[in-house]
Amino acid sequence: MLLKILFALSLLTVAAAIDDPQKQKDKSTKLPPCKACSVLVESFNLGLEKTKRGKHAGGDAAWEQEKLRSYKNSEVRFVEIQEQLCAEVKRGQDHCHTLSNEHETLLEDWFTHKQEEEPDLHSWLCIKELTVCCPPETFGPNCQPCVDCNSNGKCKGNGTRKGNGQCLCDKGYAGANCNDCDEQHYESFRDSTKLLCTQCHAACGDGGCNGGGPKSCRKCKDGWRMDTESGCVDINECVEQHRACKAQKFCVNNEGSFSCLDCDRSCDGCDGDGPDMCLNCADGYNRQDGKCVVEDIQSDETETTEREEL
Ligand SMILES: *[C@@H]1O[C@H](CO)[C@@H](O)[C@H](O)[C@H]1NC(C)=O
Repeated sequence: MLLKILFALSLLTVAAAIDDPQKQKDKSTKLPPCKACSVLVESFNLGLEKTKRGKHAGGDAAWEQEKLRSYKNSEVRFVEIQEQLCAEVKRGQDHCHTLSNEHETLLEDWFTHKQEEEPDLHSWLCIKELTVCCPPETFGPNCQPCVDCNSNGKCKGNGTRKGNGQCLCDKGYAGANCNDCDEQHYESFRDSTKLLCTQCHAACGDGGCNGGGPKSCRKCKDGWRMDTESGCVDINECVEQHRACKAQKFCVNNEGSFSCLDCDRSCDGCDGDGPDMCLNCADGYNRQDGKCVVEDIQSDETETTEREEL
């Protein structure tokens, strides 16, 4: 009986793992070379951190210190780190495991002999030994310096052996060094170290603007027109373009355009939403207190009766 339950439980676990395709996909993701090495190093550093105090928490007696010192580069600690390596990694866990197996010797060599002289495992393993990464702000096979992106963009290949070192500017910025504003942005601040680009007003069309607000547009976007006083102003299509909507629809103006919405079913044409906005009543409806309502046979009869009484 117990065995049966255990079997059912294990099936459930397997089913749950298969049931989450996103998790499975993340786990088997293949990472680019520098990223993969960085993930492995991050996980190894986490292992170093977790085993920092050894198994003997506290205690500052000299012999405890000595024990900890020998533990620092010990096989025991290496195995402890190795056992948990890549366990917390979500994206590219499989790749992390493959890489850690492939380079176990290198990791052990660093752990046993190089921890002191080369304290940065990432630099030693990913940049020097495996030559898959570069120092920050450099790129490509020989780790050339990146183009200066003035903190308004990212260098393509930054910190890896790939890319071309050119800038990928942040939104709103343009130019090889991201030191200009793009067409739909204007310079709201510039000094020798900082440039701030701010988006033009929503009413501005091609050509952008030379400042904030609708008065600074060079041209107005469709649905807006230039007014000498106020700059670009919204065109109320519902008023300015008569019959903007087809029959059985009414017009609603919004910034830069307009929409046509369905009239109430009780209407034959309307000026707005609801049975009180009808131009005429639809077949089968009559006007009552300003609203179009379903024709009521009963009330017709009442009217007849009243007339007879008169
Ligand atoms: C390059 O990467 C480093 C981190 O590795 C980051 O701090 C820096 O901002 C990046 N620079 C560019 C220009 O992308």
